[in-house]
Amino acid sequence: MSVLNRHKALEKSPTLLFIFSLLVVTVGGIVEIAPLFYLENTIEEVDGMRPYTPLELTGRDIYVREGCYVCHSQMIRPMRDEVERYGHYSLAAESMYDHPFQWGSKRTGPDLARVGGRYSDAWHVDHMRDPQSVVPESIMPKYAFLSETRIEPTHVADLLATHRLVGVPYTDEMIENAAADFAVQADPDGDWEGLQERYPNTVVSNFDGQPELTEMDAMIAYLQMLGTLVDFSTFTPAASR
Ligand code: HEC
Repeated sequence: MSVLNRHKALEKSPTLLFIFSLLVVTVGGIVEIAPLFYLENTIEEVDGMRPYTPLELTGRDIYVREGCYVCHSQMIRPMRDEVERYGHYSLAAESMYDHPFQWGSKRTGPDLARVGGRYSDAWHVDHMRDPQSVVPESIMPKYAFLSETRIEPTHVADLLATHRLVGVPYTDEMIENAAADFAVQADPDGDWEGLQERYPNTVVSNFDGQPELTEMDAMIAYLQMLGTLVDFSTFTPAASR
């Protein structure tokens, strides 16, 4: 009797099929899960990762609210075509302060994991207000209302405190200064030294070009930070350690 013939017995009996399917799934599960018990940490140790600034975190909330993840992933896979197009593949460490993460799987538009610093603030303003004005064939919707919607740091300290609750290492000092840090990140003439000390490598800029603080400021602050934090000159992938 060939193996195929024996398989018939399995296919004819729901009970047998169920038991053997369970067995196969169990083996597959163990193979995937067991190694994780022997790893001390699945998040790489990297230099440069820091919690988001109050303004970036606010921009991130707007990003989630507007559903940008529906068209944009934030995870560069370690395959050559992706790495050549977008830059170094994404590390787990880069989304360790993300609640919720924005990896996504849908790419109607390009991956945004490393869009930070790729374009000027002015480009982002034009692109967000009217994507077709800078990329004529774009099908991205317009988000002009972001630059008309004023924002206040009323709840930003609570926002940071909430993120601390789920494990983001915001210090008391960061929470105390949240409202001031929020405003000064969009004010290059302001006293942003404290902000830089608390959050190294923060881009300070009048992102939307208007004197008022708007959702556009927060959104661009977030976009300009994406993928720029990890210092890849000091990063060694686990495989070559
Ligand atoms: C319906 C799908 C869709 C949605 C929703 C969407 N985008 Fe896009 N986005 C695109 C497409 C397509 C492109 C490529 C063409 C272009 O540059 O406009 C793009 C391009 C971009 C780029 C330029 C990326 C690069 O590397 O050139 C940025 C930045 C961006 N989108 C941000 C956003 C943000 C922020 C939101 C949410 C407020 C958003 N998008 C919502 C489809 C979308």
